[in-house]
Amino acid sequence: MSDLSVELCGVPLRGPVLNASGTFDAIAARRAFGDALLERFPFDAFVTKTVTLAPRQGNPPPRLWETPGGMVNSIGLPNKGLDGFLDGDLPQLADLPVPLVVSVMGFDHTELERLVQAVGGRDEVAMLELNVSCPNVETGILVGADPAETDAAVRAVRDRTTKPLIVKLSPNSVDPAAVARAAEGAGADAVSLINTLKGMPLDPRTRAPWLGGRTGGLSGPAIRVVALEQVAAVAGAVDVPIVGMGGIASGSDALDFLAAGAGVVAVGTESFRDPSAGRRIGAELFALGGFETVRKRQPV
Ligand code: SIN
Repeated sequence: MSDLSVELCGVPLRGPVLNASGTFDAIAARRAFGDALLERFPFDAFVTKTVTLAPRQGNPPPRLWETPGGMVNSIGLPNKGLDGFLDGDLPQLADLPVPLVVSVMGFDHTELERLVQAVGGRDEVAMLELNVSCPNVETGILVGADPAETDAAVRAVRDRTTKPLIVKLSPNSVDPAAVARAAEGAGADAVSLINTLKGMPLDPRTRAPWLGGRTGGLSGPAIRVVALEQVAAVAGAVDVPIVGMGGIASGSDALDFLAAGAGVVAVGTESFRDPSAGRRIGAELFALGGFETVRKRQPV
């Protein structure tokens, strides 16, 4: 599949299919599948689950709800925290046969600076993704919903690393293109979108919120057309590359995102159904052809 090879922020990738942060546990998969996972790794770069400064347990259960064509999660960023990640996970993730992108999220600028400096200083890490768009944690403000907040967050960390910074945008914003412009203006090397759409499923027996965290984020095929519209809007507003995602389940879906203006794509919810989905989607994209043509065209 050599002619699907691309560069993202100067980092060569063997193909354009990444995972969406938090939707594929490479360490658990390695435990389950052994070295076969490394030989047939489903993605062309691996994006970690978001790392926060302190360890987090995440939100109370229930954490998932299935909708027609989608899924709502209220996971709440459970993770080992920065030290647990650097000591426990990073050495294992360094064995993966693809570039590593580490997703980080800080509850204030000081936290974000510490995360970016520590993670960005590690040779095993190719790029960082700033998650400013998780709908499942209470920060007082969703940074990625606001251009000024996004500008300030990216400026606070830009000088803390020389590694490429990808800013993960929220679809829960009045104007995602304005937020993308703010991220680019503050020094982001790429943007990724979309994260999940905020939603609130009700328990059919009680009519009270089903999720332990009350609200969650909708993902899966149900959000694909929303994502395509936002990717096209952002592609018309910025020059930095776009990691497009939102309900991609086939090579044809991936090609849609490339036509809308994404440089590479990420697979999320589909990997829960089929852990090898990334590989299948890459193969379908290759079989469809038209990859180069679509990439050279102006975004739709
Ligand atoms: C979560 O852990 O709540 C999901 C991550 C995200 O939406 O950014």
